[in-house]
Amino acid sequence: MKRLRCFYLLFSSIFLCLQGPVFAQSTQIDHKWWKEAVVYQLYPRSFKDSNGDGIGDLKGIISKLDYLQSLGITAIWLNPVYASPNDDNGYDISDYRAIMKEFGTMADFDALLKGMHQRGIKLVMDLVVNHSSDEHEWFKQSRSARNSPYRDYYHWWPAEKGKPNYRYSLFDVNHDAWMYDSTTNAYYLHYFSRKQPDLNWENPKLRQEIYDIMRFWFDKGIDGFRLDAFTFVAKDITFPPFPKGYEKNFMPYYSMQPHLHDYLKEMYKEVFSKYDVLSVAEGAGNTPQDAHDLVDADRQELNMAYPFEWVDIPKPEGYSLVHLKAVISKWDSIFAQKGWLSVFLANHDNARMVSRFADERPQFRNLSSKMLNTLVLTLRGTPYCYYGDELGMVNIRFDNIADYNDVALRNEYAYLKKNGGDLKKWMEDMKFSNRDNGRTPFQWDNSAQAGFSTGVPWLKVNPNYPQLNAAQQEKDPNSNLNYFRKLIRLRKKEPTLVYGAYAQVDAQNPDVFAYTRTLNGRKILVLLNFRSKSVQVKHGEALKNAQLLISNYASPSRKNTLKPLEASVFLLK
Ligand code: NOJ
Ligand code: CA
Repeated sequence: MKRLRCFYLLFSSIFLCLQGPVFAQSTQIDHKWWKEAVVYQLYPRSFKDSNGDGIGDLKGIISKLDYLQSLGITAIWLNPVYASPNDDNGYDISDYRAIMKEFGTMADFDALLKGMHQRGIKLVMDLVVNHSSDEHEWFKQSRSARNSPYRDYYHWWPAEKGKPNYRYSLFDVNHDAWMYDSTTNAYYLHYFSRKQPDLNWENPKLRQEIYDIMRFWFDKGIDGFRLDAFTFVAKDITFPPFPKGYEKNFMPYYSMQPHLHDYLKEMYKEVFSKYDVLSVAEGAGNTPQDAHDLVDADRQELNMAYPFEWVDIPKPEGYSLVHLKAVISKWDSIFAQKGWLSVFLANHDNARMVSRFADERPQFRNLSSKMLNTLVLTLRGTPYCYYGDELGMVNIRFDNIADYNDVALRNEYAYLKKNGGDLKKWMEDMKFSNRDNGRTPFQWDNSAQAGFSTGVPWLKVNPNYPQLNAAQQEKDPNSNLNYFRKLIRLRKKEPTLVYGAYAQVDAQNPDVFAYTRTLNGRKILVLLNFRSKSVQVKHGEALKNAQLLISNYASPSRKNTLKPLEASVFLLK
């Protein structure tokens, strides 16, 4: 009978599933601050400019610390602020122990860290060590002579051996990751731009240098590192030819080789184990197993994965909500028992989440922003909220190539031009997906340049700022900004939203993302309508006695309909 009932519950409608009593054994919670954190990703170049040079800076951030605290966020991931010639906006570091001139000084950094800690906000920095800048002292030495003690800090291929086997470069004008250097008649490897030569992780001396840098920052008191492009560090350095058909998915052939785990274990032993910090790798490997292994606590590597699969889905054509739901659910299941996930819908390498996943038209963008933030802040995993998403900032959609800054885009433009690509179509695609869309200056108020700078911003401000800015949203109790604060308050007081088991509901519903979170008998239902129209759901009677925890509508429907872009979260009774 009991088995029959289970069977029935499994295959009957969601209505019956939700009605069923919640028999749960008490779950032991493995509390960690980084699991309970709400991370705000702050792109320093675009947050607040304090001196009118058009570039956001550390003093600018300091001037906005009270705003950041008012959000309720508990940690900030700061994109790179180290010395850099800025070929790739700080992802090309020329001195790992110094602050970028445009951003300020080490004294500014210390003041920022202090101000954050005083407000209960932790600081996670970017660790960009798959590559350095070609202007780093190590590279200057390395390229100067074949017998330089720094030669093996990078990957060199002597030209007398012929041209090395092809390696794809993500940012190169020719897509070629090998760059010939006449000084020593050799090629060096750069998976990103020519000014970002790849560091050689096979070299133990190089690895020790990196651990030293990490300790330098931890000893200053920072609270974590996000490891940029880290899955690329473990390469097959014999550089064999790629097999046929590699183009379909070239990643396994040049990244995430098994010895990546050895590097991480060593890094854990040398550095992470000595501090109570957040450690997250960008990307999550080639397979779910890789991802799991990176963050399974027993393996002592990192503590959080950051998979890309769901931000890779929504291209203009062919974005299916059923697929998105399946991907998010799959990643949740990988970490259901062990390991931990990062949850995000946007970052500095992607377009704005409202433009990508919902409806950016002015009449729908507020509902869209609230609905998507509800998703990010009610899934299991640590939420990462990208600056400006608390306001519902949207893509800028540049028409003109000269308006873009992104090194990847500029080089791809040159590549397509040279090779007769369809530039018109590509420029249209870029309005949807290019990363500069997500890097425009923060919209503080309706004064010139949205209050970001008194000068000319390095990247144009979105012209919608008179209608979409923080000052105006401060005043409106129903604004995106105030909804965002409310959501964070809810997450902080509901451990179920942090630690509770996740179960998707009505997986085949093409319009609605619905799921429950359950912890020790407490069950929360999240209903998200991804469409700009009313849609049907099957939650039926389940909500009759449920307690509404939050919604982007004043009076959400408790019947079988969800309003356009509705997000409602209920505690089931
Ligand atoms: C990933 C970073 O997120 C991106 O912005 C950067 O361009 C590349 N890694 C290279 O560092
Ligand atoms: Ca500035």
